[in-house]
Amino acid sequence: MSTNLQTPRILDIPVRPDPLGDLCFIEAQRVVPFEIKRVYFITGIPAHAKRGGHAHKDLIEVIIAAHGAFTVKLEDQAGNRCEFRLDSPGRGLMVDSLYWRDLSEYQEGSLCLVLASGYYDENDYLRNHDDFLEYRPPTIRC
Ligand code: TYD
Repeated sequence: MSTNLQTPRILDIPVRPDPLGDLCFIEAQRVVPFEIKRVYFITGIPAHAKRGGHAHKDLIEVIIAAHGAFTVKLEDQAGNRCEFRLDSPGRGLMVDSLYWRDLSEYQEGSLCLVLASGYYDENDYLRNHDDFLEYRPPTIRC
């Protein structure tokens, strides 16, 4: 496994509480330490849904429960596992490339918001778990 990968970690997202609605704001390269190239969000998720089931070769993502709650289970290529319960728009889970992710245990009506470092590219996905464990990034030669 590459030593350059960053351990999954929670980013604090600034929240401005207001009786008229809490305002959360995310600034690229301030709150999120990469240039955001894509934002996607998933709505209408049934409680029993299991999403994810893949890793990315290069993409870095920040996953946020903008509303509701869900669990993100992660595994690295060495088989180390960890999990995070996301239940607040003020917390974003930063997941580097080469982490297998499974999302489950959704609270009904949750909104899953994802900030991504790259545009959508199906070639960046590792959708087979064995392929994920065996995948080695191309070696960079100077
Ligand atoms: P996928 O990333 O597998 O969803 P999840 O991890 O949430 O279960 O994407 C589901 C489908 O949507 C897949 O066919 C690819 C497509 N898709 C896009 O076209 N653009 C995107 O930005 C994303 C994230 C997915």
